[in-house]
Amino acid sequence: KKILFASSETHPLIKTGGLADVAGSLPLALAELGQDVRIIMPNYQGIKNCEPGRYLCTVRVNNCDVNLLETHLPDSDVIVWLVDYPPFFNFPGNPYLDEAGRPWPNIGERFALFCRIIVEVATNRAYLNWHADIVHCNDWQTGLVPALLSLEPNPPATIFTIHNMAYQGLFPGSTFAQLNLPGQLLHPDGLEFHGMLSFIKGGLSYSDRITTVSPTYAQEIQTPEFGYGLEGLLAHKQSHLRGILNGIDVSVWNPADDAYIAQPYSVDKLKDKQVNKTALQQQLGLPVDLETPLFGLIGRLVEQKGIDLVLSCLQEMTTLPLQFALLGSGDKSIEYRLQEFARLYPERISITIGYDERLAHQIEAGADIFLMPSRFEPCGLNQMYSQCYGTIPIVRKTGGLADTVIDALPESIANGTASGISFNDASAAALIEAIKRSLVLFHNQPVWKKIQRNAMVKDFSWQNSANQYLALYNEI
Ligand code: ADP
Ligand code: GLC
Repeated sequence: KKILFASSETHPLIKTGGLADVAGSLPLALAELGQDVRIIMPNYQGIKNCEPGRYLCTVRVNNCDVNLLETHLPDSDVIVWLVDYPPFFNFPGNPYLDEAGRPWPNIGERFALFCRIIVEVATNRAYLNWHADIVHCNDWQTGLVPALLSLEPNPPATIFTIHNMAYQGLFPGSTFAQLNLPGQLLHPDGLEFHGMLSFIKGGLSYSDRITTVSPTYAQEIQTPEFGYGLEGLLAHKQSHLRGILNGIDVSVWNPADDAYIAQPYSVDKLKDKQVNKTALQQQLGLPVDLETPLFGLIGRLVEQKGIDLVLSCLQEMTTLPLQFALLGSGDKSIEYRLQEFARLYPERISITIGYDERLAHQIEAGADIFLMPSRFEPCGLNQMYSQCYGTIPIVRKTGGLADTVIDALPESIANGTASGISFNDASAAALIEAIKRSLVLFHNQPVWKKIQRNAMVKDFSWQNSANQYLALYNEI
């Protein structure tokens, strides 16, 4: 099948979060299953790690002349088509924010243009001599695609994958006219959401199938707490909604072959993990000490990630025999409060504000325990990376975290399935309990090693999930 995979970010070209990891690895897995997959994304100024795009053609949409360029995912045959429109995309910053961290004021126009080009390519009006069978859209930035394709005579089938319901691409109703969108699409069963323009509704209302990135999240988004007003629509579409767990790119996240870390290791050479712990402690200026458990956290510092719960626990954590290394960026007031703790407790807490691929790998390898107390988590990738690295995750039992981590309880320890620690309540009390539970387990080294082994031998590769997507493509 010919699959056009549309994403606003793709690792390693440009990344702000897990969507990029998925867009950079699922197409590879599909290609390995014999599919003809092309990725399409905007040509941002910040794109790196690929050959410069080769000019293909110019396509005119909505009064704009847009170039299509072609490059590849590094070390692979998977083609990436770059939508090149310098007046929108040739600026420093990330796909959603400018350099100062402010949302692009014309973000609606940017992604509407992106969607129009995807439609031109998918229907072969760009004359690339390639006619998509399936257009696989991801998140609100591509939401207009299924809507616009529904107006075409013989449209390809569409899949819309929800990576996060919290981001919907909502704009004032007047934006609809500003974007010159076809009037037939503006109604409550279409792009309209309480008088506003909703990009995500394009994906939910018009695609042939909706997927999200874990079975538990597929259930959760049908409730008001996680559906943000779209739970009714999702429940109505239930028979066309599927939860397919993300895989991880095991060529990027593999402790036995990771160029970023001090000492590669594997389940048979677990002792070598300690070299990475020492190296990390040294690098971050924490006391070098193998006996003290080192907690890690990597992520966007936003409410979703339960970072407020961590902040509420930090004071008490400084009284416990542990160290904590955090890497992240996001909400400025959160960044500030975290840095204050690091300043007061330099022997225990290390906070790195920023985005750092290398340090992310080093924390996964060097930490003993990984914190992921998310308030919601569609899938989550770091808890899977952590398990592969024998870094035991503490997670809140929600979304993909519930689907990928098995709580260490007497029974799961006995039957060899325990691979982490999970807790239910989104409260600081529940988190600190889980942290204390992990300390007890950590100091019971035979049991701890067993849990590490259980975690490290789990298969989080794309194989299984890519086959599930393939089955879905064949169904429509
Ligand atoms: P989300 O997509 O909600 O941010 P995921 O767990 O799915 O959450 O994916 C986050 C990805 O982004 C992971 O690959 C993680 O390592 C990476 N990441 C997040 N913040 C940083 C950071 N500050 N530095 C390096 N990598 C980061
Ligand atoms: C989103 C979600 C995250 C998921 C990622 C990739 O950003 O927040 O849970 O893992 O998308 O699907």
